[in-house]
Amino acid sequence: MSKGWSLIVLLLAAVQVTASEINCNGNVTIRNSEDAKTVRENCKTIAGTLDLDIFETFNLDGLEEVLGDVVHRCPTKEKGLDYCMDASTTFNISSSTLKMINGSLALYYYRVENLDFPALNKVRREISLYNTFNLTHVNLANLEYFGTFLLQTPSLIELKLDKFKEFTSLVPYVNIWDTGKLESFDEFFQNPVNPYNVNNSVVNPFIDFHPLNVRSLTLGWTRMPSMNIRAKSELTLTLGGPKTEQMEFEGTLKIGPNVTAINRHDNLKNLTVERFDVQLSAVSDLDLSLNQVTTVSVYGNPQLRQLRLPSMAQSWKNLTLNIGANDNLLLSVVKDGSDEIIWHWPTGDMASVAIHGNMTSDFL
Ligand SMILES: *[C@@H]1O[C@H](CO)[C@@H](O)[C@H](O)[C@H]1NC(C)=O
Ligand SMILES: *[C@@H]1O[C@H](CO)[C@@H](O)[C@H](O)[C@H]1NC(C)=O
Ligand SMILES: *[C@@H]1O[C@H](CO)[C@@H](O)[C@H](O)[C@H]1NC(C)=O
Ligand SMILES: *[C@@H]1O[C@H](CO)[C@@H](O)[C@H](O)[C@H]1NC(C)=O
Ligand SMILES: *[C@@H]1O[C@H](CO)[C@@H](O)[C@H](O)[C@H]1NC(C)=O
Ligand SMILES: *[C@@H]1O[C@H](CO)[C@@H](O)[C@H](O)[C@H]1NC(C)=O
Ligand SMILES: *[C@@H]1O[C@H](CO)[C@@H](O)[C@H](O)[C@H]1NC(C)=O
Ligand SMILES: *[C@@H]1O[C@H](CO)[C@@H](O)[C@H](O)[C@H]1NC(C)=O
Ligand SMILES: *[C@@H]1O[C@H](CO)[C@@H](O)[C@H](O)[C@H]1NC(C)=O
Repeated sequence: MSKGWSLIVLLLAAVQVTASEINCNGNVTIRNSEDAKTVRENCKTIAGTLDLDIFETFNLDGLEEVLGDVVHRCPTKEKGLDYCMDASTTFNISSSTLKMINGSLALYYYRVENLDFPALNKVRREISLYNTFNLTHVNLANLEYFGTFLLQTPSLIELKLDKFKEFTSLVPYVNIWDTGKLESFDEFFQNPVNPYNVNNSVVNPFIDFHPLNVRSLTLGWTRMPSMNIRAKSELTLTLGGPKTEQMEFEGTLKIGPNVTAINRHDNLKNLTVERFDVQLSAVSDLDLSLNQVTTVSVYGNPQLRQLRLPSMAQSWKNLTLNIGANDNLLLSVVKDGSDEIIWHWPTGDMASVAIHGNMTSDFL
């Protein structure tokens, strides 16, 4: 009997020794603060994946690169669901030296409160902050390159991420599902960059933006894929930032619920959109100040009262125009109560025109 016990004790001890063994040349799992210390002191580069199986505040100053993924998720299997659901205590993750992750950075577990990687410059694959319900502060102040970006952070108060330059994946996407308490998301989109490198596919990539408390959004990127904006509270959109002179949407710019205004920044000299689609929005006065557009659809916008085609519309080529189901729209060539002409038809051929709605007698 006593022999049996000592055998078990020995076995446990053996398991613990191997568990805390850290080999920087392979995959590394951090399970406690001892492991974190070992990584800090011994690993500049981790050649494999870094698994964060730790649920207390820890720091990785000293670590510079991870060639695989960095992943933090609740280990349901080993610890049980109760452990995963216990959100009573939160903790922080930080490294002031980590510069590069050649795989993905994925946080799937909600007790993380602060993520502080101020030196991180590149995450070659995916950044995914998902189900991180307790995440309030994210510092990625030096991040210039990533493959894709997914944000679902209901408690977010601060996001430092204003240096983005280029996508590193062939099929990039940006998915902003929940911006928490953030009132501005402008920094993310502010730089007048063309975020594509020569080999990105521009067919599939898209930006999905569903902010919660963001009141206004200024888009400064010069080249965009399709973008879908559906706000969960009232939002004003501005196309073009203070430093942006040229902007091009290669697919559909789709503007939906709760967007109350769409403005064009004064600095923008050239704005082209392939398909401009305003549907179910809260826009009341829509000015289609686009230098070039192929398809315009304006459907089901209950607040819309006035639609303008400025003089630049005269040079639109091969336009497809669809307007309908905007219950309060009265289409007119001149602005209500003045002589100002607000509707300029394209002078060249149009592909098709379908307009359902009320219009004044001068309209056709
Ligand atoms: C490291 O982990 C990855 C997946 O996470 C796995 O494919 C690979 O075989 C592991 N490498 C080693 C040396 O265990
Ligand atoms: C996390 O970091 C913040 C800001 O530095 C600090 O106020 C908070 O106490 C930290 N939380 C934990 C659990 O360490
Ligand atoms: C990062 O990953 C890419 C693609 O697998 C590879 O070509 C490149 O050599 C890796 N970089 C480093 C520093 O390991
Ligand atoms: C973490 O988030 C959960 C789910 O939203 C919440 O119930 C819990 O109170 C939060 N914990 C802390 C310490 O803020
Ligand atoms: C683009 O793809 C080509 C062919 O696959 C490759 O030779 C080139 O290095 C790539 N360029 C970049 C910037 O990734
Ligand atoms: C629009 O915003 C209001 C709050 O201002 C919200 O109740 C509603 O659900 C939002 N609509 C959509 C479709 O998200
Ligand atoms: C405006 O941008 C589009 C798309 O990039 C381009 O084709 C067009 O030549 C530009 N127009 C002017 C006047 O620069
Ligand atoms: C005009 O647009 C229609 C419908 O989108 C398309 O089928 C046609 O090829 C276009 N014509 C030219 C000359 O671009
Ligand atoms: C459009 O016409 C219908 C039917 O004549 C009318 O009931 C409605 O009030 C009109 N709407 C506007 C915005 O003038």
